[in-house]
Amino acid sequence: VTGPAQAGPAAASPSVGWQRVGCVVVAAGDGRRLGASRPKAFVDLAGRPLVRHAVDRVLASGVVGQVVAVVGAGWLDEARRVLPTGCQVVAGGIDRQASVAAGLRSLSDRTDVVLVHDAARCLAPSGLVGQVVSAVLAGHRAVVPGLAVTDTVKLVDPDGRVVGTVDREPLRAVQTPQGFAHELLARAHADADLAVGSATDDAGLVERLGEPVLVVPGHWLARKITTAADLQLAGYLVSAGEGS
Ligand code: CTP
Ligand code: MG
Repeated sequence: VTGPAQAGPAAASPSVGWQRVGCVVVAAGDGRRLGASRPKAFVDLAGRPLVRHAVDRVLASGVVGQVVAVVGAGWLDEARRVLPTGCQVVAGGIDRQASVAAGLRSLSDRTDVVLVHDAARCLAPSGLVGQVVSAVLAGHRAVVPGLAVTDTVKLVDPDGRVVGTVDREPLRAVQTPQGFAHELLARAHADADLAVGSATDDAGLVERLGEPVLVVPGHWLARKITTAADLQLAGYLVSAGEGS
């Protein structure tokens, strides 16, 4: 039987070989800081919702055979309407970690490599998706894209007084898609269920297991859309033909 993880580009791509690659796109957040009248993932950007931009770029990488979009419970029908056929849709959870876990449960158990991607990073280029998958296939079991921090970073006390300046040289601002050996991410999430507090990214859960995580070069277009200003800038970028 040909499962969804085998169908499509993954099976055909020579760079992926026999490995099955699945991607969870988390889109179940409210988008409180954006403040739109609908969840952030369903806000329009140049004629298409953010989640559609994200899923299209994942599919365009040509290395992903199964995509699961995780959306708010009230948005399942709308998601099925706006997403390409073949993209599965499931309901998310109370926080990002719970939404990722819901997506992981829907992946084929024959999946070898899992990507986790934020719908909010909807312009992350397909080339970045391919680079993360390649690094996992090269043997790195947890891979995150990251950018050097260019601003000077200060430590402050609760009153805003500077306590010190952080050496920014070893700092990286990490993005998605993050890539993992399926077995490792499943174990990290199973472990996280027992732990107190949730991690803000999936690599954080893998770090708690004491497993190594590799940072590969990120991309400025993989910046997260958080505020109205971020959305406006993304609109300019799309109309200028960036990130398509
Ligand atoms: N996310 C999710 N399920 C949640 C919370 C967040 O799937 N319960 C997803 C969001 O849809 C987003 C990604 O995680 O694609 C990153 O989260 P963030 O940028 O914080 O989005 P929101 O939580 O929607 O925004 P805000 O924090 O401003 O409310
Ligand atoms: Mg949030």
